[in-house]
Amino acid sequence: MLKEISLGLGAALLVFALIAGYDVTPFIFLLLVGGVFLYMANARGMLKGFGNTSRPEKKQEISFDDIGGQGSAIKELKEALDFIRNHREIQSLGIRPLKGILMTGPPGTGKT
Ligand SMILES: Nc1ncnc2c1ncn2[C@@H]1O[C@H](COP(=O)(O)OP(=O)(O)OP(=O)(O)O)[C@@H](O)[C@H]1O
Ligand SMILES: [Mg+2]
Repeated sequence: MLKEISLGLGAALLVFALIAGYDVTPFIFLLLVGGVFLYMANARGMLKGFGNTSRPEKKQEISFDDIGGQGSAIKELKEALDFIRNHREIQSLGIRPLKGILMTGPPGTGKT
């Protein structure tokens, strides 16, 4: 809302200056440079708000139920997840924390 108003006001001011006989080319140039800068900052996710619609934070909705087959792999992964979730209890039992998981298998079987 505020953005639209200021945009309209700016445009009106520019047209007025043009009619009044001013040279508006430097202003247009400045606006273009500013626009390009904003666009780039937006694309890099540097701006919060200010109409930043790129890269919305999407919720991860894939669960273990989406994995077909791989019964034993799923079980192992769930165990590993328990290790990460209850890392304090696990550590108090003297078990070293998980450093990583290595997945092996033929191409296209759901490792990634
Ligand atoms: N077990 C599975 N259950 C459900 N979907 C699967 C399964 N395996 C593969 N897919 C589907 O196939 C696509 C490719 O799988 P993925 O990228 O995980 O394979 P990958 O094992 O990482 O292969 P690569 O070894 O080539 O990297 C996934 O995006 C998914 O849609
Ligand atoms: Mg992969």
